[in-house]
Amino acid sequence: MSTASSPAAYNYKVVRQFAVMTVVWGVIGMALGVFIAAQLVWPQLNLDMEWTSFGRLRPLHTNAVIFAFGGCALFATSYYVVQRTCQARLFSDGLAAFTFWGWQAVIVLAVLSLPLGYTSSKEYAELEWPIDILLGLVWVTYAVVFFGTVAQRKTRHIYVGNWFYGAFILVTGMLHIVNSAAVPVSLFKSYSAYAGATDAMIQWWYGHNAVGFFLTTGFLGMMYYFVPKQAERPIYSYRLSVVHFWALITLYIWAGPHHLHYTALPDWAQSLGMVMSIILLAPSWGGMINGMMTLSGAWHKLRTDPILRFLVVSLAFYGMSTFEGPMMAIKTVNALSHYTDWTIGHVHAGALGWVAMISIGSLYHLIPRVYGRERMHSVALINAHFWLATIGTVLYIASMWVNGITQGLMWRAVNQDGTLTYSFVEALEASHPGYVVRMIGGAIFFSGMLLMAWNTWQTVRASRPAEHDAGARIPAHGSTGSTH
Ligand code: HEM
Ligand code: HEM
Repeated sequence: MSTASSPAAYNYKVVRQFAVMTVVWGVIGMALGVFIAAQLVWPQLNLDMEWTSFGRLRPLHTNAVIFAFGGCALFATSYYVVQRTCQARLFSDGLAAFTFWGWQAVIVLAVLSLPLGYTSSKEYAELEWPIDILLGLVWVTYAVVFFGTVAQRKTRHIYVGNWFYGAFILVTGMLHIVNSAAVPVSLFKSYSAYAGATDAMIQWWYGHNAVGFFLTTGFLGMMYYFVPKQAERPIYSYRLSVVHFWALITLYIWAGPHHLHYTALPDWAQSLGMVMSIILLAPSWGGMINGMMTLSGAWHKLRTDPILRFLVVSLAFYGMSTFEGPMMAIKTVNALSHYTDWTIGHVHAGALGWVAMISIGSLYHLIPRVYGRERMHSVALINAHFWLATIGTVLYIASMWVNGITQGLMWRAVNQDGTLTYSFVEALEASHPGYVVRMIGGAIFFSGMLLMAWNTWQTVRASRPAEHDAGARIPAHGSTGSTH
């Protein structure tokens, strides 16, 4: 690793802004999650108004947790990591500030437009065309800031974490632009440029790769920086990380059709999606093992370091959901799991166990550093948060597995004369206890987020602005945690 020649400070302001908003949107998005979970227990909570109905609040939840919470975590950590590993200040402070305010504007517009019923009706791409255009502009600017910083690096090589962040930025931009192509008929309404099975295929090419590149590749960038840093160990295998990168991005892009099994999509496309999904297990586990093995010789730290626990347990959930996903992609398994709560359980094994936990662990590492403090205000609260998050996730996914398999089996049960054994309502009644457990699990996870908000507030309050700059000096030596 070469030494830095310039003493210029990093831009930590935008990192601080995104970090704080990650916590804020995390609290809001998960509160919404608990509310819609409660609606599935007590339908009266729909309050007889269209704005507060499950159908409108559900996309608000998904947008708030994926794009607001997850997105802000990705912006905060990528801006932090790219500066430190390239030993260069962000390419442009002005453009970075535009990405912050632009991204918040997109989220606020989503919060306003989705409950009002404005939607393109494409899952995870519900926002109407004017917001899509703003989102596209913010994203291209993000790419300019990120890759501009990489281009100005003072180090010889590009640390592997940046490869993952870079792929996430490029592919997400491509997916958004292609899937959002639409013909506007008014300021608030547009129709997709695609029709029929083509529309469905493009939507799930987008949807699956939103999982692959937004919810996975970006967070793997986080993993490759924060796990070695927190464990104070070099990454287990730099070579494996390079193989991991190329294998993952080559395979993910083909797996989308597993969302469209037994539909009008050509059979060969469904089978291709299934096969590619099964192969995807290999790079996913390669990455998980690389992260886990980084703790070789540092396992004892798990006893005392709750941040490391967050990071390691997130990898365990990543391994679990990327085992479950390929299984669910097998057509015969999907015949049982599709439309059931099993999918919802799988989603949250990835979303709570992997995405939220790796983000939370990384933020507990990052926040004190960008606020000029040695550590978070309370390590005991981080520990409490860890247990609440783990217990909450387990309750959520276990209840959804039970519900999913119950529903799948009840729906397909037939009597000897060929009639259905159970009515739909009977399967719904059988699901009720699971919905109660999921709501409790979600509330437990959410209460951990409240602890995080309090801990962050106390940390920020006690920070001394003068110290920020000291923390933002470009160090004399590399800080990647790589084997180099
Ligand atoms: C306190 C935590 C959370 C609770 C209680 C919660 C609850 C819910 C509920 C009740 C649904 C609707 C399920 C249905 O339609 O049957 C849902 C959907 C969803 N949630 Fe969450 N959620 C939480 C956190 C998260 C997080 C952190 C993420 C992502 C990072 C996330 C991503 C999603 C996605 C993608 C869906 C749609 C799933 C699908 O269509 O298959 N959730 N959530
Ligand atoms: C090797 C990795 C993975 C594979 C092969 C995979 C496969 C699948 C399959 C087969 C489904 C069900 C499709 C259906 O029946 O409609 C699904 C749904 C889903 N998965 Fe995964 N999964 C993987 C990893 C993940 C991870 C790590 C996350 C989250 C971070 C995730 C998030 C989701 C979401 C959000 C859905 C629901 C989409 C929807 O219908 O709205 N997946 N996945």
